Amino acid sequence: MNQAEPLSASMIPYRFMARRMTCTSAGNGAILKLAFKRKHSPTVRGKTVDNIYTVTPRAICFGARAPQPLECELKGQLQVLNVCLAGATGWAGSELARAIAKTADLALVAAVARKDAGRILGEVLGEPSLTGSIYASAAEALVNPCDVFVEYTKPDTARTNILAALEHRAHVVVGTSGLTDRDFVQIDAVARRQHRGVLACGNFALTVVLLQKFAEIAARLIPQWEIIDYGHDAKVDAPSGTARELAFRLSHVRNPEPTVPLTSTVGLRESRGATVAGSQVHSIRLPGYVISAEITFRMPDQRLTIRHDSGNSARPYAEGALLAIRKVSTLVGVHRGLDSVLDL
Ligand SMILES: NC(=O)c1ccc[n+]([C@@H]2O[C@H](COP(=O)([O-])OP(=O)(O)OC[C@H]3O[C@@H](n4cnc5c(N)ncnc54)[C@H](OP(=O)(O)O)[C@@H]3O)[C@@H](O)[C@H]2O)c1
Repeated sequence: MNQAEPLSASMIPYRFMARRMTCTSAGNGAILKLAFKRKHSPTVRGKTVDNIYTVTPRAICFGARAPQPLECELKGQLQVLNVCLAGATGWAGSELARAIAKTADLALVAAVARKDAGRILGEVLGEPSLTGSIYASAAEALVNPCDVFVEYTKPDTARTNILAALEHRAHVVVGTSGLTDRDFVQIDAVARRQHRGVLACGNFALTVVLLQKFAEIAARLIPQWEIIDYGHDAKVDAPSGTARELAFRLSHVRNPEPTVPLTSTVGLRESRGATVAGSQVHSIRLPGYVISAEITFRMPDQRLTIRHDSGNSARPYAEGALLAIRKVSTLVGVHRGLDSVLDL
């Protein structure tokens, strides 16, 4: 993996007292990395700081002998990432916008959505701290400089939005499903030219990351599997981003070896599903489903089924997307799946 360029994030001044913390390096004018214990987390602009931050200090540390806990008073600046969120008024995007509002290190500087274009995002979502404007297109929103562009709209506009963001030299997090492997090849070329990272996650939920990992292990040992993708009746894209990503990842492990090749199917070939990156995928769209993905591995007289079911709230996606936003600048080119930035 190439090392990405450092971010040119804006800095906000802050000052706080913290009683217990660990300095991983220290010194006047040096970068100071602080790991706060959650119960001792200080607040910045009224928000709790509960992560590891890099601080450019005019720091005064008393008795600092890293990595011992110490008492400090810091005067410095907190690095803030400016985020532009496309799809900020939607089911998934609005949950992410509200989650960003609760962080101290992310600022939502612009949003994209057509119906509410011209309004302030916070007014639409009832979240006063979201003061960024809503624009009808990514091209208009990107006039506001941002470090990370998040794409959460619809498949038909996602590719254009992502390419526009890369041309503005933003890193990109992609939540929208429906982009093809060919789209990602084109996006990867532009991202590498711009020396920017694109982190595309068909599903940001941690449990889906685990499904993918477990399936990769199983595919190493079991040569036959098929994927079933369940979605609600209003879901327009098929297969789901989760199913596409799963098939894509398994293609790097091996190709399945069906006993009867698909070309030898007698009857309707379509009834065997779509071939996605070598795997057979069957998409079901009916009322009552949210989103589920199931993969079944079979060997003679034994079978293994791994299934993931999404709940009704978009909260797990927001949590994963926050992690992706914070980490995408460490990447160059397209990376697929949240585990690209997780230590699994
Ligand atoms: N990766 C994951 O974990 C994950 C999780 C959930 C959903 N998703 C995917 O994320 C995408 C969005 O899902 P959703 O359920 O949030 O959809 P949604 O509720 O319909 O929201 C779509 C958002 O995009 C905006 N939008 C749509 N088309 C646009 C266009 N042409 N230009 C500008 N804005 C546009 C909509 O506002 P206007 O209609 O006002 O323009 C709205 O804000 C889907 O592809 C879905 O499959 C992924």
